[in-house]
This record gives sequence, structure tokens and C-alpha cells, in this order.
Amino acid sequence: MNGCTLTLEHFLMELAILTLKIHTGLQHQIIWPCQPSCVPLDEKLLPQLLKEAGYTTHMVGKWHLGMYRKECLPTRRGFDTYFGYLLGSEDYYSHERCTLINALNVTRCALDFRDGEEVATGYENMYSTNIFTQRATALITNHPPEKPLFLYLALQSVHEPLQVPEEYLKPYDFIQDKNRHYYAGMVSLMDEAVGNVTAALKSHGLWNNTVFIFSTELLSVLVVAFDGAIPSVGNGMPLQRAGENVVHGRSAHVTCIVVDPYGLFATGQVHDSI
Ligand SMILES: *[C@@H]1O[C@H](CO)[C@@H](O)[C@H](O)[C@H]1NC(C)=O
Ligand SMILES: *[C@@H]1O[C@H](CO)[C@@H](O)[C@H](O)[C@H]1NC(C)=O
Ligand SMILES: *[C@@H]1O[C@H](CO)[C@@H](O)[C@H](O)[C@H]1NC(C)=O
Repeated sequence: MNGCTLTLEHFLMELAILTLKIHTGLQHQIIWPCQPSCVPLDEKLLPQLLKEAGYTTHMVGKWHLGMYRKECLPTRRGFDTYFGYLLGSEDYYSHERCTLINALNVTRCALDFRDGEEVATGYENMYSTNIFTQRATALITNHPPEKPLFLYLALQSVHEPLQVPEEYLKPYDFIQDKNRHYYAGMVSLMDEAVGNVTAALKSHGLWNNTVFIFSTELLSVLVVAFDGAIPSVGNGMPLQRAGENVVHGRSAHVTCIVVDPYGLFATGQVHDSI
């Protein structure tokens, strides 16, 4: 394992980081729920390239690269299967995303959960990270080992809203600050999720032939605290320097761990591709 400056965004260069690239026109902000834009359709994404190379391609979790037209959806952008949510910041249990519709001055909530291109119902009151982990391990278990596999698992954890099952809070009852208390519980659950995925790869005999990349969308997660305060209850120091904004401070430098049996990722490399 190497701590590294090579991030998931570098590796998935044509995927997640596109939201930050100036030439895509999406560098200003996130894609808001009613915003009719997505990663430009002439961009060829990594799963498309891998699919052409013979890989089975699966995605589970957060997309947030646009969904206003069907052509923007993950299943149209190189993934054989998709299960997850298309926006961001939804409720971990109801899987609903609420948004203020400015033109009408009303807040509307809608279910943002998809299995392929269909709305996925019947998952209420189940914590998203557990659902996604279960889906990911099922995909691994059912995968024919002789075929190359690309699995992109974008967990909802750890991101606002601050929600986690009670039992994950217990070990951190000594933490006074409620925001930090929940945050710690959420990190523990995510840690367990990663453990479950690596265990599935091992028990299915795929681990020693897998390049495994663990990274994050943001260095210090923007968590809106219980009192509605921003900035976050996460902490990006020392990688995040004081005064840096989202693009430069929280997404351009992120933590990353690579397990790489092939030595594809040498330490100390710097990529300028973003
Ligand atoms: C929007 O609605 C809220 C109450 O729901 C009201 O207080 C506010 O003045 C409204 N804003 C506009 C611009 O109409
Ligand atoms: C990990 O696997 C265990 C055993 O199947 C399960 O009880 C637990 O809920 C899983 N954790 C996550 C976060 O999916
Ligand atoms: C993985 O393990 C299998 C069985 O032990 C072995 O045949 C194969 O060469 C290993 N692959 C790598 C990349 O180490």
C-alpha cells in the first residue's frame, strides 16, 4: 500500500474529475437538481474504454455527473449495470433529495434511487452504505473470474447529512460535539464497508489480481452541521491549506490508497492531467 498523490480522480480522469475541468463547462459548482447539464456527451469516459477492452463494468453509488437526459446516465456512459443515486446529499435512509424550486418558491422532495434506469423502490429505512456494499459484494461474488472486471463503488459515506445507525455511535459516546460524534460513527461504518468489499474480493479469489484504489471525492467533507452551519466537521489538514476553496483545497488534493500487485502506480509520480 502506498500513500500517494495519485488520486482516484487522476485515475478516473475522464470520469469524476470532469466536473472540475474547465473545458467541460462544469467547473463552477456542483450540478444542482434542476440544472439541465451533464458531462458533455462527446467525452469518452473510462468505463467506455474498459468496456471496449473487454471488461465487465459495474457502478454502484453516487453518480452526480448529470441526469437531465437519458444519454447522461451511467448506463449510457459505459457501465453495464448501475445501482445508486444520481444527485448528492440525499437522506441515507429515505433516499430522497429535497430542493428549493426557485421559480415556484417551493421545496420539493423526490426519491433519487435507481437500479439501472428504473426507479428503485423498497429500500426505505435501509442505510445506503449497507445497500451499496451488499450490491458490490454480490457483483463480485457473481462475477466469472476469467473475465476482467471494473467496479466503481462510490459510497455515500461520508457526506452530509449526518446520519448513522445508533450502534456506530456507541464507541464514540465520549465525543462531546454532536457533529463530530456522528461523523466518527459514519467513518467507522464506511471502514467496515471497505472491509466487506475487500473480503469479498479475497474469498472470490480476485484479490491478488486486483488493482484496488480507495479515494475520496473531497478531502474534508462538506458536512452541514446539525445547526445548519458550514464549513464542515471534517478536517482536511495538513493537505488542505487555510483559505483554499473547494476545487483547490478539497478536491485537488485528496487522500488515496492504492493496492497494486502489478506495480502500475509508482510512488512519487506527479500527474498534471487535470
Ligand atoms: C417564498 O416562500 C416563503 C414562505 O414559504 C416566503 O417567506 C418568501 O417570502 C417567499 N419568497 C418569495 C421570493 O416569494
Ligand atoms: C459487512 O458485513 C457484515 C457481515 O455480512 C454485515 O453484518 C455488515 O452489515 C456489513 N457492513 C456494511 C457496512 O455493509
Ligand atoms: C494469484 O493467485 C493465483 C493462485 O494462487 C496465481 O495462479 C496467480 O498467478 C496470482 N496472480 C497474481 C497477479 O499474483
